[in-house]
Amino acid sequence: MTEKLFAPIIIPDLQKKKERGEKIIALTAYDFPTAQILDEAGIDIILVGDSLGMVVLGYENTIPVTMEEMIHHTKAVARAVRRSLVIGDMPYFSFHQTEELTIANASRFLKEASAKAVKIEGASAKRLELIEAMVEAEIPVMGHVGLTPQSINRLGQFKVRGGELVEARRIIQDARNLEKAGAFAVILECVPQDLAKTITGKLKVPTIGIGAGPYCDGQILVFHDLVGYSTGYNPRFVKKYADLQSVIAMAVKKYGEEVKAGAFPDEAHSYHQSKRKR
Ligand code: KIV
Repeated sequence: MTEKLFAPIIIPDLQKKKERGEKIIALTAYDFPTAQILDEAGIDIILVGDSLGMVVLGYENTIPVTMEEMIHHTKAVARAVRRSLVIGDMPYFSFHQTEELTIANASRFLKEASAKAVKIEGASAKRLELIEAMVEAEIPVMGHVGLTPQSINRLGQFKVRGGELVEARRIIQDARNLEKAGAFAVILECVPQDLAKTITGKLKVPTIGIGAGPYCDGQILVFHDLVGYSTGYNPRFVKKYADLQSVIAMAVKKYGEEVKAGAFPDEAHSYHQSKRKR
């Protein structure tokens, strides 16, 4: 039983979970201690998302995130993990030039950062060719359709995708094309729940939803949103399970007050010179 619990999650396990109707639990993480907590809590997939840029690095959106930043944080996460499947997110412009450069960038997540797979946004014809090439190079790929945050400059705003019939049909086709190109799972972001249900029913590979309702094969959230450790706007689909922001603010304030009052450090947190001669 214990042995089974700690066996590392491998990509075929995700397919089996879908077939058994067992939900896949995914979260993002960007550092060692968080990844350790998630891993020990039994999270199946840890995505080192390029949301890193917004929730950790303070960028306005995900566009400025670099390969170096993604590799740095993916390494920290992978060092902490024993069981979860670690997936690295391909940042903007790491897969927009040549096929060679795309494969070189994707392989860095596996070779340097010890991730087991990569995620890539979009499903254009060119993107599908790249996914096929990555899979051919033994790089497992997770797809991502619906709202794709790296398209922010073209879309102009983050909003639900697939509300209109034409767009819904396109997203269904995108998801099917990703599966055909070899993606082992597909993230559905910010789409109506009925659309997510339809796609989940049509695909053999698992769907992982974020803002896509309850019918996906799994769910993912940004860790900082889940624990209330972000100051920015939270979309409707985010459920805050804790309010770390105020817990941290309270602790820091108390520390400041105690230092000011000379109450910290006290006896219990100080050392004394040894009386024994060496
Ligand atoms: O970057 C990210 O964290 C993501 C997930 C929210 C799916 O793409």
